[in-house]
Amino acid sequence: MSNRTFTMVKPDATSKGYTGAILDQIIKAGFSIKALKWTKLTKEQAGLFYDVHRERGFFGELVEFMSSGPIVAAILEKENAVEDFRTLIGATNPANAAEGTIRKLFAASIGENAVHGSDSDENAAIEGDFFFSKLERF
Ligand code: RTP
Ligand code: MG
Repeated sequence: MSNRTFTMVKPDATSKGYTGAILDQIIKAGFSIKALKWTKLTKEQAGLFYDVHRERGFFGELVEFMSSGPIVAAILEKENAVEDFRTLIGATNPANAAEGTIRKLFAASIGENAVHGSDSDENAAIEGDFFFSKLERF
């Protein structure tokens, strides 16, 4: 277990001014920030990040959305980080997300769902490397 995960605050949440509140929830849940960046993805970069979903019906919509405004990328550390972070953010569809989860609190729809969380240790490492050089993390 790497004890690290990767997250993004997605464009819906940055544009609604939820970035600070979301980072606050993450820190209060016991995650420490190991890297942090405010940036904006091109369509090509968003497509590469979500490459596993390229054949899915929602891929075009996902790429448009993820490149539509700024995002905040972060590497987070905590014991059991990947699983605990997925619990903290809640189900992909906010309608199914548990009370108190970040998606329940801040997400509007299954497509525009406020935050990303890595689904495995392997993908957490790949996704962190996608955004951050060695100099940008500690
Ligand atoms: P994420 O990767 O962003 O943390 O989300 P997730 O694991 O909970 O969900 P995943 O299946 O990996 O889907 C990635 C993102 O694609 C969008 N999506 N839209 N319209 C739809 O049916 C649909 N399904 C998925 C969401 O933005 C989802 O987070
Ligand atoms: Mg996913």
